[in-house]
Amino acid sequence: MKVAVVGATGLVGGVMLKVLEERDFPMDELLPVASERSAGRTIWFKRKEIGVIGMEAAVALRPDIALFSAGGSTSLEWAPRFAEAGSTVIDNSSAWRMHPDKKLVVPEINGHLLTAEDRIIANPNCSTIQLVMALAPLHKAYGVQRVVVSTYQSVTGTGMKAVQQMENEREGVAGEMAYPFLIDRNVIPRCDVFLDNDYTKEEMKLVHETKKILDPNIRVTATAVRVPVTGGHSEAVNVEFARDFDISDVKRLLRDSPGLKLLDNPLKDEYPMPMLANGRDEVFVGRVRYDETQPRTLNMWVVADNLRKGAATNAVQIAELLIAKGLLRSAQVL
Ligand code: A2P
Repeated sequence: MKVAVVGATGLVGGVMLKVLEERDFPMDELLPVASERSAGRTIWFKRKEIGVIGMEAAVALRPDIALFSAGGSTSLEWAPRFAEAGSTVIDNSSAWRMHPDKKLVVPEINGHLLTAEDRIIANPNCSTIQLVMALAPLHKAYGVQRVVVSTYQSVTGTGMKAVQQMENEREGVAGEMAYPFLIDRNVIPRCDVFLDNDYTKEEMKLVHETKKILDPNIRVTATAVRVPVTGGHSEAVNVEFARDFDISDVKRLLRDSPGLKLLDNPLKDEYPMPMLANGRDEVFVGRVRYDETQPRTLNMWVVADNLRKGAATNAVQIAELLIAKGLLRSAQVL
C-alpha cells in the first residue's frame, strides 16, 4: 500500500500526515507531495524524515491512494492523472464535489454509496461536513425542511498564509495579507469569492453540498463569516422540520450518533467552543433549544476542528472505509 499526501507541506496536508500516523493507517510507503517549490523539503512521519516530491514524480510512482489537499486548480489538473495511473484519489478541494459522476462522502452518512469504480472521491467542504453530521440523524427522524446557518470560521480554513497574517497582526509585524482586511480584532463576512447572486462561494457550497449529501429537497440559506480564531469552525443553525419533535428526543439522537458529541449543559456553562474542539475528531453540538417563534423548529450550535473532521480525518476515514469494504484496487496491477 502506497499512500500519497498531495499538499503535504500545507495546513490540511500536515494534519493528514498526523491523522494517518495516529490511526496507524495500513501502508508500506508514504509519498509526501507538493509543488516544485518545495523540492528539497522534508517532512517527519513515524519518526522518519521523508523528502517531499513533485507531482510528476508522484504519478510515476503510482500510489494506491492519493489524498489531495492542494487547491482546486491542482486537483482539476492532477486528480485525473493520478486516477489514470491507477490511484484512488480522495480530494479535499471543491473541484469535484458537485460533479454529477463524483461521490461527495461523509462516511457516517453516505459511505455506503462507495464502489470500486470510484477513482476520484470528493471530501465535502469543512463547514458542510460539521453541518450535515449534526443534521443527518435529525433528518432521518423528523425530515429537515429548511436550514438557516451562520458560520464563524477559523482562519486555519484559509491556509498557512492566513494563520501567518493573524500572527503577524498580533505581534505587530508587517507581512503578506491573506484577507482584504485585518483579521485580528475583526470579523469578515466573506469566505471565498463573491458570486453573481451576492452570496459567497463558501455560502453556496453549504447550500449545494448539503443537498447533495442529505436530500435535494432541503432548503438551505447561509452566511459565512471569518473570525480571528484558530481551532475550529462554529455554526449557529436554525432548523425547521416536517414533523414535530421533543427537544429531549433530539438531544438523545444527537448524543447517540457516531461521530457526534453532545455538550449541552447551560447551567454548568457546557457548550461547544473551538478551543474544546481543537485537535478532536468529533463534531460537537450544544445550545439545542426550541425556536419559540415558530413550530417544528430548533436552534443549535455546532463546532468542529475544520482541519480534522472538516478535512483530514474525513478523508482518511473514506480511505479506511474503502479498505474495510475491499473496494480499493492496487494501482500496481493496472
Ligand atoms: P507548496 O508548499 O509546495 O506550495 P495551504 O493551503 O496550507 O497553503 O497549503 C497548500 C498546499 O498545496 C501546499 O502543500 C502546497 O505546496 C500545495 N500546492 C499548491 N499548489 C500546488 C501545485 N500546483 N502542485 C502541487 N502542490 C501544490
